[in-house]
Amino acid sequence: MKPYIFAGNWKMNHTLRETEEYFKVFLRKLAGRDFVDREIVIAPPYTSLALTSSLIKDTPVKLASQNAHFATNGAFTGEISPVMLKELGVEYVILGHSERRHLFKEDDELIGKRLEGVYKEGLIPILCVGETLSEREAGHTLSVVERQVKRGLERLTEISSEKVVIAYEPVWAIGTGVNATPEQAEEVHSFIRKTLSTLYGKDGEAIRILYGGSVTPDNVASLMSKPNVEGVLVGGASLDPEKFFKIVEVKIEKETLTECALPDYSNLDPSILEIPKNYKRLLIVGASPKPNRPSNIVMDYLLKAGYEVIPINPAYEEILGVKTLPNLESVPLEFKPEVVIIFRRSSEVLPVVEKALKLKPKVIWMQEGIVNNDAKTLAEAYGVKVVMNLCFKKVHQLTKWK
Ligand code: 13P
Repeated sequence: MKPYIFAGNWKMNHTLRETEEYFKVFLRKLAGRDFVDREIVIAPPYTSLALTSSLIKDTPVKLASQNAHFATNGAFTGEISPVMLKELGVEYVILGHSERRHLFKEDDELIGKRLEGVYKEGLIPILCVGETLSEREAGHTLSVVERQVKRGLERLTEISSEKVVIAYEPVWAIGTGVNATPEQAEEVHSFIRKTLSTLYGKDGEAIRILYGGSVTPDNVASLMSKPNVEGVLVGGASLDPEKFFKIVEVKIEKETLTECALPDYSNLDPSILEIPKNYKRLLIVGASPKPNRPSNIVMDYLLKAGYEVIPINPAYEEILGVKTLPNLESVPLEFKPEVVIIFRRSSEVLPVVEKALKLKPKVIWMQEGIVNNDAKTLAEAYGVKVVMNLCFKKVHQLTKWK
């Protein structure tokens, strides 16, 4: 496994004297500690790069720059080239930071060019992506992040997974004290991972994805517990060596989804799933063909509880031995489902909800998620009730998942 990355982005902070003071404290704390599973990276302002480079010599700390130009040299006033950075011992380069995008109007095109220049020079780009608050509220988080990842990497035809890092930094979480919840971060990180895997196969899938935005010693453990969070990019809290050290030394305990045996439902009341008792005809759109996943567990439970259920997923036929339909379009009109349960999240959910609405159910039941919020708004515009975030909680209760 590749080491996690704990990176501090100092932004436009710390003079030479302050840099020296910082490392006196930070390196003293680091002495004798052996973090085999993580890399420590610091991105000081350009003026402190040379000094930092000499101070961190023979220590585990690695050097990053906060930006870089794509060319090797030339008439680019105010810019610094990848070769120059390499000469100073820089290994990582932050690119496309939201402050560069929003305050200095760097666009996807320029960021993609910078990234190509940095990558070709053998430096490791940390490509920052993330939505603004209004983009999130409009339900565009995943499409914005997808565009920024794709455009940022578009000039690389092949990729070496150790040589690129992505940082998900929601703009609304930067410097605000409001971090994304671990669940929000995980949802976007796993979406980024899927995107990278579609673009570059196994190499893409193995790229490390960091979270940034109001990371502190208090929230780092819960953020790092998520399976797809492989490090953090810290702004404000990295300016204080004591605080940053607390972040760096966090104990990492990754959450795992435990596969569990089907529980005994014999004395359970179906009302635990909060499906009104007078509703008996249900459609289940299942995402996972694997046994013992929430969709299969719920399905099995409802069948035993006597509901009339049609699963929309051919895999159920094999798993549970019940009649299934291949898609929502093939549901017979006379079935008139009262409830549609959708086990899908993210980008695939909207079209499913649109199709389900044509069947005029009373209730749509689905998991919590960013895109699912859009789907909720859509369904409610049709006068259909939406129940969210029940399934996992209830399935967890049923199966004693942690
Ligand atoms: P804060 O940690 O201050 O929110 O900044 C995050 C960031 O922009 C790191 O690049």
